[in-house]
Amino acid sequence: MLQTITRIPVAHYSNLKQRTGYSIKIADKEIALFKVTNGSVYALENHSPHPKGGVLSEGLVSGDYVYCPVYDWKISLIDGLVQAPDKGKVQTYIVEVEDDIIFIKI
Ligand code: FES
Repeated sequence: MLQTITRIPVAHYSNLKQRTGYSIKIADKEIALFKVTNGSVYALENHSPHPKGGVLSEGLVSGDYVYCPVYDWKISLIDGLVQAPDKGKVQTYIVEVEDDIIFIKI
């Protein structure tokens, strides 16, 4: 089945603080947006894959990882993979930055 991809403007790049998570709602999706120390921006589903998972936008950011606020799982912001010894994957979204506007592809 073909899926349509939509590019949605979600924030101004210059308004985002580094190593801080932001929660964004697009239609029925909750998305966590992060700007890391090197200036890259990542977007992930805003929910940890842990069975009692928490909200990733409230996690602690270090390098390209977020540490989940509830059970301290370490999750890659690049590909959404939960790092060993834990397992799981968070959905990631493509981010584009143009003229200070951050777009997410859904
Ligand atoms: S809520 Fe994620 S493991 Fe914590």
